Amino acid sequence: MLVDQVSEATGGPATYSGRDMKETHAGMGVKAGQFDALVEDLVASLDHFDVPRDDQGELLGLLAPMRGDIVEIESSETGQALPEMYQPAPPLT
Ligand code: HEM
Repeated sequence: MLVDQVSEATGGPATYSGRDMKETHAGMGVKAGQFDALVEDLVASLDHFDVPRDDQGELLGLLAPMRGDIVEIESSETGQALPEMYQPAPPLT
């Protein structure tokens, strides 16, 4: 979904058919630190594949406005307890 979303935002060819960011992340208690960590990982990947800084800036400029719809807790923490209902997925076979 993220790949489709980033592809569509940067001109395709994929099209994003997922839910909007507010609805998707509502009630997750995503922290600012977690959002920033995701962006840090993304920048590391873009660096790894030698994506020029200007292009990186353009992409980050598209993601930055989503912050308000995703982050619910203004804290730099990245850790989070798993919810009670959490169950590990079965191992791949
Ligand atoms: C720039 C930041 C982010 C973007 C662009 C993004 C984008 C997305 C997208 C496209 C989906 C799929 C939506 C769908 O299934 O219709 C998704 C789902 C999800 N995201 Fe994010 N996300 C971001 C940050 C985060 C962060 C920081 C967390 C948690 C630490 C998070 C947790 C999740 C989870 C758990 C789901 C699965 C929801 C479900 O299937 O019910 N996301 N996100």
